[in-house]
Amino acid sequence: MTGDRPTGPLHLGHYVGSLESRIAFQSLYESYILIADTQALTDNFEEPERVHHNVYEVLRDYIAVGIDPHIATIFVQSQVPQLTELTSYFMNLVTVSRLERNPTVKAEIQQKGFGESLPAGFFCYPISQAADIAGFKAHIVPVGEDQLPMIEQCNEIVRRFNRIYKTDCLVEAQAYLGRGKRLTGIDGQSKASKSLGNAIFLSDSKEEVKRKVFAMFTDPNHLRVSDPGAVEGNVVFSYLDIFDTDTERVADLKAHYQRGGLGDTTLKTLLTDILEAFLAPIREKRALLTMPVLKDILHHGNERARRKVEATLSEVREAMHLVYD
Ligand code: TRP
Repeated sequence: MTGDRPTGPLHLGHYVGSLESRIAFQSLYESYILIADTQALTDNFEEPERVHHNVYEVLRDYIAVGIDPHIATIFVQSQVPQLTELTSYFMNLVTVSRLERNPTVKAEIQQKGFGESLPAGFFCYPISQAADIAGFKAHIVPVGEDQLPMIEQCNEIVRRFNRIYKTDCLVEAQAYLGRGKRLTGIDGQSKASKSLGNAIFLSDSKEEVKRKVFAMFTDPNHLRVSDPGAVEGNVVFSYLDIFDTDTERVADLKAHYQRGGLGDTTLKTLLTDILEAFLAPIREKRALLTMPVLKDILHHGNERARRKVEATLSEVREAMHLVYD
């Protein structure tokens, strides 16, 4: 079980961080993939049209990279009201001071500069995320590193729930970090992120990919082709490490670059070609997906997701003495 906030189209960082493992896992496990529109609204509540639009963008990305809606259940958070119900029960099991300690939320609050206008919904989103995970009785949650505090918090809630209501109906989840790597942004300053404008999107055009690769941070002291260059901190190499399957070639290129005699242009042209070979089929598949097809996928996914969480909820209500007739 995993998901994404629909705040924009997905990028290569999402691919490396999580999409790749979902594709591998979908044929091994019962898989649920959530498009977290409710969570996206916690800090975009004034822009509901944008969130709505991006639900379909994210869905296109999912299908285009190879998530198979016939195997995995892709659904939209707001369309499963059982998740909201579970969130409200979980609210009692988390203290405000525990919420304040969540490092990811803390960093986001800083970054977004909420100050006194911090929405309660945003502050509490780890609780609703715990409901997302526990509602499906998820065992494995493929995510990027920044989501580890959410899973930890979810497991605390699950343990507390089971203890207080004397049940074992909820299960603890384990994060799965995939290649365990964060993809750096093209600026080399921090991880690839939409809000920092340093990411290559799965839907970028060929020209855009080339422009971004050529804007990548390399070694500022590598002035002439003949100069020795640094591999460490060089964004082009960090992308080659991940996207060039020919590891021997990458090792040779690194040695050559460090010796001197290998220019950035040659290297960037190679990376552009490698990324283009990866992205072209994704772009083509993306373009073929029509609105009726996308809506049909969500219609079925939402229905399957509701059934699954409703089954958990009947156990939850029973354990909480919330059955009256
Ligand atoms: N917080 C995740 C993100 O920032 C999205 C998300 C919502 C999620 N619910 C989830 C991820 C449940 C994994 C499991 O993209």
